[in-house]
Amino acid sequence: MKPVALHHASRLINHGPTVLVTSAHAGRRNVMAAAWSMPVELTPPRIAVVIDKSTFTRELVMASGAFALCIPGAALADLVYAVGSTSGRAGDKFARHGIAAGSGPVLGMPVLEQGCVGWLECRLIPERHTEEAYDTCFGEVVAAAADPRVFADGHWSFRGDNADLQTLHHLGAGLFARAAGTVQARAPL
Ligand SMILES: Cc1cc2nc3c(=O)[nH]c(=O)nc-3n(C[C@H](O)[C@H](O)[C@H](O)COP(=O)(O)O)c2cc1C
Repeated sequence: MKPVALHHASRLINHGPTVLVTSAHAGRRNVMAAAWSMPVELTPPRIAVVIDKSTFTRELVMASGAFALCIPGAALADLVYAVGSTSGRAGDKFARHGIAAGSGPVLGMPVLEQGCVGWLECRLIPERHTEEAYDTCFGEVVAAAADPRVFADGHWSFRGDNADLQTLHHLGAGLFARAAGTVQARAPL
């Protein structure tokens, strides 16, 4: 992974990839899948993600005020489905699935690099109403990184020869589409 300039960080999730939300607090850590995340501001980079109030992730995020969004490549589809189908309350998913995690440079959130193509470390922006009413949590991106084989200078490059590094888009019930077959629109006149 190479650091991504913060003004390019929103591009990492602009196309709506399914992400892994990682969290940690007081010696406990967790990871869950989230299909519902999006950028909401370019500079400073801010994002929103739906984290249901029943999840262990939500408990840790509210306690620590931080989380990370890690962007899995297509080769991690089974893992994404697995960590999105069980709760960390039942046991450490990192240990159970053999997930290696580094530490985010600013907030120390777990960041996944093996099989992932990018991550964004975020400080929670407390918004009690949207959290309570819509399970929507806002975050300011304080650090970001990406795999330069597929993301460089603020641009994704999904090609026929990098299928395992293409991002996942959840269609439902464990079926995903890969980001591929890009179309470059002509410059507007
Ligand atoms: C592909 C996929 C996408 C998901 N997207 C979301 C989401 O956007 N928001 C959410 O709250 N839960 C989502 N879930 C469900 C959580 O990942 C699931 O409830 C998880 O078990 C919570 O884990 P935790 O209790 O360890 O935090 C998704 C699950 C899958 C499989």
